[in-house]
Amino acid sequence: MRITILGASGLLGQALTREWRGDEVAGFSIEDIDIRDAAAVRALVAKQRPDWIVLAAAYTDVDGCESNRELAFAVNRDGAVNVAEAAKQASAKVLFLSSDYVFDGSKTSPYETTDARNPQSIYGRSKAEAEVRLLEILPDCCIVRTAWMFGMGGKCFPDTILKLAATRPAIDVVNDQRGCPTYSIDLARAIMQLCRQGAAGIVHATNAGDCSWFEFAREIVKAAGLPTAVRPVSTRQMARPAPRPACSVLSAKSLQPYGITLPTWQDALQRYLQERQG
Ligand SMILES: NC(=O)c1ccc[n+]([C@@H]2O[C@H](COP(=O)([O-])OP(=O)(O)OC[C@H]3O[C@@H](n4cnc5c(N)ncnc54)[C@H](OP(=O)(O)O)[C@@H]3O)[C@@H](O)[C@H]2O)c1
Repeated sequence: MRITILGASGLLGQALTREWRGDEVAGFSIEDIDIRDAAAVRALVAKQRPDWIVLAAAYTDVDGCESNRELAFAVNRDGAVNVAEAAKQASAKVLFLSSDYVFDGSKTSPYETTDARNPQSIYGRSKAEAEVRLLEILPDCCIVRTAWMFGMGGKCFPDTILKLAATRPAIDVVNDQRGCPTYSIDLARAIMQLCRQGAAGIVHATNAGDCSWFEFAREIVKAAGLPTAVRPVSTRQMARPAPRPACSVLSAKSLQPYGITLPTWQDALQRYLQERQG
């Protein structure tokens, strides 16, 4: 297959370009192509003639999206529409990366792909609106919702915690938001399998298991053998510009038909820490 990866220099984009085997893969960063430029996207897709476009490019600064609404919708929704329209013209399939933040977080059991979207943040809204538009343009596209991603080659939660833990005796981390930490490498492998199997529709793909940010941080500090104390605090004590879902645990049921199982987040964290040590 011919694969075009958009957002190739991002956290997931780097894992995808590194992990993908057995196909002809071409990765493009924002320097190569700005997905807001519909004509440039059309020209690139016409030239590449990919079987699949993996759309990992996005404006992912969740708090930044609150104060840069226009940019959030221009990249995350309208950019995705540009890609879908170009793909339609070139008969390419699209796998679009979306987010657990399309949900409001009020559920107390894992979110299924059939649960209603109700985003609370601008980032979540831009992703939710992109999903709706993509399914209109390309009803057979594949939308992969993931969450709490970490990995090499970019900013991520474990990296931040390790840097803080190296210089502070104690750190405060929120304990009333639950989700599914996801290693970029494991997600990249799942995406490769989904494309190979011609996946269509909405799929939830995260590492197995769930935790709060506090529990995640505690595990990171423990696994790294650091003496730093990790203290639980509430979301209210750590006010941020964008509201986050209290519970955005994603159900893995939608991966079952493809025979895909992701390792636990604890296992993924161990492998990330090994990779980080070089
Ligand atoms: N990270 C998470 O926890 C998480 C959770 C759920 C869903 N997702 C989704 O998963 C996908 C990959 O996330 P990620 O963590 O790999 O994000 P990332 O590291 O921020 O990578 C996104 C890439 O897109 C690029 N980009 C931004 N605006 C662009 C534009 N107009 N045209 C082309 N490229 C543009 C960015 O370039 P610059 O860095 O130069 O701006 C960056 O290289 C995204 O769709 C994201 O929404 C991520």
